[in-house]
Amino acid sequence: MTRTISQIDTPGGQDELRRDDYFPTLVYSTKLHDAESMNKEILAAILAERDKDSKGIERSNYRSLGGWHSHNNLHKDPKFGRLTKRVNTMLAGISENLGYDTKRELKVSTMWSITNPPLSSNRAHIHPGALWSGVYYVQAPEGAGAIDFVDPRVVTIMNSPVYIPKKRRKTECWTKVKVKPVAGKMLFFPSWLYHAVEPNLAQGDGPEAERIIISFNVNQVKIPGK
Ligand SMILES: [Fe+2]
Repeated sequence: MTRTISQIDTPGGQDELRRDDYFPTLVYSTKLHDAESMNKEILAAILAERDKDSKGIERSNYRSLGGWHSHNNLHKDPKFGRLTKRVNTMLAGISENLGYDTKRELKVSTMWSITNPPLSSNRAHIHPGALWSGVYYVQAPEGAGAIDFVDPRVVTIMNSPVYIPKKRRKTECWTKVKVKPVAGKMLFFPSWLYHAVEPNLAQGDGPEAERIIISFNVNQVKIPGK
């Protein structure tokens, strides 16, 4: 595997500075080419599930604010088969990208939906027992809360440098990451990475104002026969 190395020219020009990037936090993303039809299908499946189990369960969601969380086995339901298959295809890309054992594959182990009406949010949490986790945005009206990733390098709070004011920092210097939800977008992040969802500030109180997602956990499993 290639190493992430940067060669940097120094002001004097005599000695070259080299940078190695160790312990990075990787976030993969994709936008599905068939998001429109996928979301129509998945939204109907989620709403049917919510009708069937209106109480749901409570995890990072606040039931008191109207946040609904389905059970965790949606990947076993054929109505979510198209999306599950697509997630697993993306996971094969991640496995290959990271040089994981080819006798094993990354596979969805749990999958659930969360629906957030306006003003509801999700507390900061991690996903114990999984390697990778992810989210797929089924419906994300303007103002729907961003997902906030928390800097895992907690020791960095002991001191912080001063950057050039009003200049966009390089991503490797960020200590906060917010990703705006967009319908059809899928994110994959390490399960140990703390994340929270900001309040849904979409206008209106109809079904279109809800922030609706599918989330999943992923583990590495042996491929039968390999
Ligand atoms: Fe989560």
